[in-house]
Amino acid sequence: MYSISEINSIVEKTLFSLELKGEPQKLYSPIEYLVSIGGKRIRPKLVLTTFNLFSDKIDRSVVYPAIGLEIFHGFTLIHDDIMDKADLRRNMLTVHKKWNDNIAILSGDVMCIKSYQYIAMAPEDKLKSVLELFSETAVKVCEGQQYDMNFEASPFITMDDYISMIGLKTAVLIAASAKLGAVIAGAPHKVADALYDYGYNMGLAFQIKDDYLDSFGNTSMFGKKIGGDILCGKKTWLLVEALKRADSGSASELNELLDRKVSSEEQERSKIDSVIAIYRRLEIDKAATEAMDLYNKEALECLERANLKDKQKERMVKFAAALLKREK
Ligand code: IPE
Ligand code: IPE
Ligand code: MG
Ligand code: MG
Ligand code: MG
Repeated sequence: MYSISEINSIVEKTLFSLELKGEPQKLYSPIEYLVSIGGKRIRPKLVLTTFNLFSDKIDRSVVYPAIGLEIFHGFTLIHDDIMDKADLRRNMLTVHKKWNDNIAILSGDVMCIKSYQYIAMAPEDKLKSVLELFSETAVKVCEGQQYDMNFEASPFITMDDYISMIGLKTAVLIAASAKLGAVIAGAPHKVADALYDYGYNMGLAFQIKDDYLDSFGNTSMFGKKIGGDILCGKKTWLLVEALKRADSGSASELNELLDRKVSSEEQERSKIDSVIAIYRRLEIDKAATEAMDLYNKEALECLERANLKDKQKERMVKFAAALLKREK
């Protein structure tokens, strides 16, 4: 088995070896920019990690499809930042801020197409199932993103609505990453599906943590604006749970705050601080941690169905634990 740092280094080296330059510059520079400013690269790392459970032959036919998922992820981030009106990502200006919306739309489109080119480098005998898995996943991510947008405008979202939405926008890509490695390595269907379910539950915990860090994280670690979700009225785990727990007084206070228009940085700050204060009062931070632990536990139970040997299982348990305790 490769070590974690060997897998990380394969991912980084391959990403930096990609030929992403081209003309016109305004189409290609944003792609190179987004790839070069970092990111945790959890999706390609997960592909190589599950592949490596079954095979030691890490070569182009798995590394490039893994990179394809990271490039696809990059595409979703560029478009997501337009949709969420976000100015900061990975501690740097977002593509639409550094350039403009049109450039961000088109360079995102190219990233999406390029991701298919990399995915298509999977071994020929696996190509059909790999492309099917990827295409299904990509459509679901877009469905999730639309639900996410719909929910911003809906006054009441249940926790079930929220979980289905993040299942689509975030968890399916992490699930597909876990499955992709197993599929390319030729693992049995039952095992690949168990790894998918492991990834899906881990993905739910991952998005809840993302929501948590958006309010309770630290900007320089997280690399995004703290309170961004509050300002755009995002139905996050924190907000859905807060509205569920709030008595009528706290609920109207929260709704009044969320409806409040802000026109200066000072007003933004005060809105964000007041919402976070309500979250703390309702102990939403603690509850979010418990919810993440629950989905993490669920993920580990799915792992049991994958019939892994102790050492293999240990690797996957470690992967989940690292995501759970992340601060960025
Ligand atoms: C951000 O993904 C979008 C979500 C699904 C929450 P990551 O947290 O994986 O972002 P990077 O790639 O590490 O920057
Ligand atoms: C991410 O949701 C989902 C996708 C990008 C598909 P968020 O909107 O919460 O992600 P961040 O916080 O901007 O990274
Ligand atoms: Mg979003
Ligand atoms: Mg966003
Ligand atoms: Mg977020």
